[in-house]
Amino acid sequence: MAAARKTSAASYLPEDRDLDSLEAAANVCRGCSLYESASQTVFGHGDSHAQLMLVGEQPGDREDIEGLPFVGPAGRLLARALDEAGIDPDVTYQTNAVKHFKFTRKNAKRRIHQKPSRTEVVACRPWLVAEIEAVRPQVIVCLGATAAQSLLGAAFRISAHRGELMRLPREAEIRVEPEPRVVATFHPSAVVRERTERRHEMYQLFVGDLRSARASLAGRRRQRR
Ligand code: URA
Repeated sequence: MAAARKTSAASYLPEDRDLDSLEAAANVCRGCSLYESASQTVFGHGDSHAQLMLVGEQPGDREDIEGLPFVGPAGRLLARALDEAGIDPDVTYQTNAVKHFKFTRKNAKRRIHQKPSRTEVVACRPWLVAEIEAVRPQVIVCLGATAAQSLLGAAFRISAHRGELMRLPREAEIRVEPEPRVVATFHPSAVVRERTERRHEMYQLFVGDLRSARASLAGRRRQRR
């Protein structure tokens, strides 16, 4: 019988868990099959001591080409929303639940984003956990359901808990002190894609959730004094 294909990044994690070592190891990760068609691993980027971490779903077409998270249309909307929420993007750490772009090819030029499967999200999770443990953010903002389900469990629904300040569940097995708080909100691509009059409302809610994350950060700083 053929050996089952390995679907976890766990065995690719390096002994040193600083971000540079993690990124170098992630660049050669073969923990699932997504590396086969993507151009490169897109690891997290930003302030290595950020108090605020933003977690998206997976790199998009532009991110896959440039090798950095949130540099395409969703990233531009995110940058505008962060600015409106009074958050300096340079003091955040931005990453994704899945580190390779998953797509189908429409024609020679166009690649269409495909949602990563639960197996792929779980396979890639060790990188996200290691990033959280290395950066030790005070607040994690999950952008969309994929990121939220990776950290809060497969049953998590944005429609039921958007904007709530939560703790990581025990089952998340993420060991960071002090324990970060987690907020889940829309994915910026969902706002970009929304073509109805609902778009303005979604954007306002999105900015509001980012503002709450910032307020919670300030509250946690005061508590520690
Ligand atoms: N969408 C994401 O979830 N992440 C990115 O980095 C870009 C688009």
